[in-house]
Amino acid sequence: MSTRLTDLPLEPIETASRQELLALQLDRLKWSLRHAYEHSPVYRRKFDEAGVHPDQLQSLADLARFPFTTKKDLRDNYPFGMFAVPQDRIARIHASSGTTGKPTVVGYTLRDIETWATVMARSIRASGARRGDKVHVSYGYGLFTGGLGAHYGVEKAGLTAIPFGGGQTERQVQLIQDFKPEIIMITPSYMLAIADEFERQGIDPASTSLKIGIFGAEPWTPEMRLAIEKRMGISAVDIYGLSEVMGPGVANECAETKDGPTIWEDHFYPEIIDPDTGEVLPDGEFGELVFTSLTKEAMPVVRYRTRDLTRLLPGTARAAFRRMEKITGRTDDMMIVRGVNVFPSQIEELILKHAELAPHYQCVLEKEGPLDTLTVRVECAHGADPSIAGKAQAGLAHDIKAYIGVTAGIEILPEGGVERSVGKARRIVDHRPR
Ligand code: DLL
Repeated sequence: MSTRLTDLPLEPIETASRQELLALQLDRLKWSLRHAYEHSPVYRRKFDEAGVHPDQLQSLADLARFPFTTKKDLRDNYPFGMFAVPQDRIARIHASSGTTGKPTVVGYTLRDIETWATVMARSIRASGARRGDKVHVSYGYGLFTGGLGAHYGVEKAGLTAIPFGGGQTERQVQLIQDFKPEIIMITPSYMLAIADEFERQGIDPASTSLKIGIFGAEPWTPEMRLAIEKRMGISAVDIYGLSEVMGPGVANECAETKDGPTIWEDHFYPEIIDPDTGEVLPDGEFGELVFTSLTKEAMPVVRYRTRDLTRLLPGTARAAFRRMEKITGRTDDMMIVRGVNVFPSQIEELILKHAELAPHYQCVLEKEGPLDTLTVRVECAHGADPSIAGKAQAGLAHDIKAYIGVTAGIEILPEGGVERSVGKARRIVDHRPR
């Protein structure tokens, strides 16, 4: 498939030099630390306790002297304690559902919303959007940042938003057929569920008007990209973000290279740290991704620990901006099975090697006596002959043992046997007693 590139104008900063970007980052970082210190009692206390003051930041590297922020800080200050502007300047609130306990709450001023729309519009252009495109948004609207984040970006880019949201899979198919969008924004796992529905209705999912999919909100492997591109007949790009830092649009892949999301470093300053020691690692080394907001007003974040594991790479399509390697795991998604570290993405990669299997899967953890056991529940592919399921079962178990080093039980389910989500897929089901 030929690469579809944008015909919309870029922002001047997107073609700036690395030097220009670094100078802008330093100015903005000084502002952001001062803003956090002066207007957020939480940050003032954290800085004071660590014995640091914003005046001590003279270079970007000095950021390493400042304390980290974690999800716990947000929970401890639930709901609005992290805000650094008065309530009457908060224009919008979002919250992550959170699987346990209180949700994490984030706030935006009108200017923050504008900044967010700007980086989202930039992300959509980078994905290859062209003048006149219609964008079908299947990320959930509501407290989740996906839907509204995408929506404002589509409008800011001058394109047409179709604000569908998640769910009602049959109607999604109908509207894609009728409205003929060129672009879809959706989680990769829900894209597969929509592809299944197209097939169920006897429509080839590769025959639609769609040309680009902007996929994120959950990890997905390079193998999954190829599988989706082939099945949907589209170009699939990766969009990254998290509510604490802004929402979607912190980083986005560029269509011309598709080599990992380009980080919009003029607004979000990235670091990679050793997750155990907190030490800053040089570019190119793997570790936990940490972000400091450079322009956010309502809820600045200083060295926010994302728990996402990746590494920083030099810029390509936007030369001044560093990229991150496609994220394949989070520190809290790591399963430790009999001492071996396993990420769901490793399982996904192996499932996709088997044509008889579909990448609808879950990793079930249980306790057998003192030992943890892993069972992979996976569906057979659309139309696959059930008699070959046995072969796939043995093959997948063998591959998991050979490539990852753990013994896993494999349960092959008929089509539709694995729970579908209309947003982020639940890849780990943990039945171990706490
Ligand atoms: O998922 C924001 C978002 C919406 C991003 C739509 C992209 C598209 P949260 O619910 O706060 O925000 O979840 C953030 O999701 O720390 C990652 O672990 C994961 N995540 C997000 N994008 C990607 C991606 C939204 N492209 C958490 N690849 C993050 C892998 C991703 N993981």
